[in-house]
Amino acid sequence: MATIAPQRPQVRTSPTAYEAIKAHYEKNPGERPNHPHKWDVSRSDIYFEDTWQPIFKEMQDAGPLHYIPDSPYGPYWAVVGHKAIQHIEALPEAFSSSYEHGGITILDPLTQEEAEAAGNAARELPMFIAMDRPKHTGQRRTVAPKFTPSAMGDMEEEIRRRTGELLDTLPRGKTFDWVDKVSIELTTGMLAILFGFPWEDRRLLTFWSDWAGDTELASVRDLDSTRWEILQEMAGYFQTLWMERTQDEEPGNDLISMMIHSEAMNQMRPEEFMGNLVLLIVGGNDTTRNTMSGIIHSLDKFPDQRKLFEENPEMIPNAVQECLRYQTPLAHMRRTCTQDTEVFGQTIKEGDKVVLWYLGANREDTVFEDPHKLDITRDNARRHIAFGYGIHRCVGARLAELQLRVLLEEMHKRRMRVHVAGDVERVRANFVHGFRKLEVEITEF
Ligand code: HEM
Repeated sequence: MATIAPQRPQVRTSPTAYEAIKAHYEKNPGERPNHPHKWDVSRSDIYFEDTWQPIFKEMQDAGPLHYIPDSPYGPYWAVVGHKAIQHIEALPEAFSSSYEHGGITILDPLTQEEAEAAGNAARELPMFIAMDRPKHTGQRRTVAPKFTPSAMGDMEEEIRRRTGELLDTLPRGKTFDWVDKVSIELTTGMLAILFGFPWEDRRLLTFWSDWAGDTELASVRDLDSTRWEILQEMAGYFQTLWMERTQDEEPGNDLISMMIHSEAMNQMRPEEFMGNLVLLIVGGNDTTRNTMSGIIHSLDKFPDQRKLFEENPEMIPNAVQECLRYQTPLAHMRRTCTQDTEVFGQTIKEGDKVVLWYLGANREDTVFEDPHKLDITRDNARRHIAFGYGIHRCVGARLAELQLRVLLEEMHKRRMRVHVAGDVERVRANFVHGFRKLEVEITEF
């Protein structure tokens, strides 16, 4: 029987989330939130200005977790100790990730009333990062086979080819923005391959990921309805791809086909399917992108380490771990306490918001010697918790490591030295930790 291919819906491509926030604050200059507590590390300015380090150090010297009674996100526990974060993540029953309790970022999900006021029927798209056991286990299993070592082996050649081709197009002796030309291009390209996403539309993945994942944006509640409309358009687009794939006679090897044909999928509601797609896009996008930018920025900041990398390519795997530690592209994850629990001498009460600051923990000086130095020979670089810990530890970690390793190897093969040579602008947010712009110039070593 002949079938008619569904038509892909029209979707908007502007304004970007960044443009929308900027325009909002230009119109409402006095509206930026107030942070009265000196240890309230939810203030996004400290990440934008890169001045967060001494604050975390002071907190760590005083203890691994602190109650912050007053913040624009309400009261919360700031967990800044490496060991304490692992301890909490190892107790997923007592520290929930689910939206019903409060979700995974410092910003609470919309209440039903807020969602209705913003014209949204649902509060958030359901996704397994924001679920507890046993539901989390079943849904995570659907996508995990795509990230096994053997699946990574199958993808390496293609990642290497695309990375090499892109590096060969970069201008020499001319300043350009590494974020736009390399970090975004490589990450969206990778996700497009993974999902079997139409190549010509791959920049939509960045556009959507920014609208979905920016906590600063979400804290501007005026933009909620725009955000929701854009996410609905994205869901519509993916639904069409999904319908296309269900008509394929042979299931493809891409993630969408895998999810459609998996056992657990039969028990997933359509909005859960969409939610999990969004999770994979957002999870894989900002994070890998910002590490690719962080690598360049940190190697330029520590020229002795750049030289070591140039002279010792066998150090690349450890350099990848060290760059992940140093950048930590997700500054935090959040849990909500479900039963009074004692942690390192403090009682966390049922209902309390618990924010795990990976960024601070990855610079704790009792775990990492001279923590603010990039050291690609560091023998415990692998102890970083940039991918989290426990049952929710990043499912895409191997893919991210592969992309970062290949990037460094292909740069090395071409004897590329990348210098910061112009504007550097960081993201103003307390969740995504990275670069909006990184102007560089390439020379040879
Ligand atoms: C979860 C970081 C790349 C997909 C997470 C978590 C972190 C993280 C911190 C939460 C862990 C926890 O709560 O303990 C990163 C970093 C990346 C990266 C730093 C790159 C440098 C990717 C990629 C993908 C991905 C490439 C897939 C394409 C996911 C998913 C989850 C997750 C699906 C949810 C896992 C679960 O709840 O079981 N990631 N991620 N991530 N990440 Fe990543």
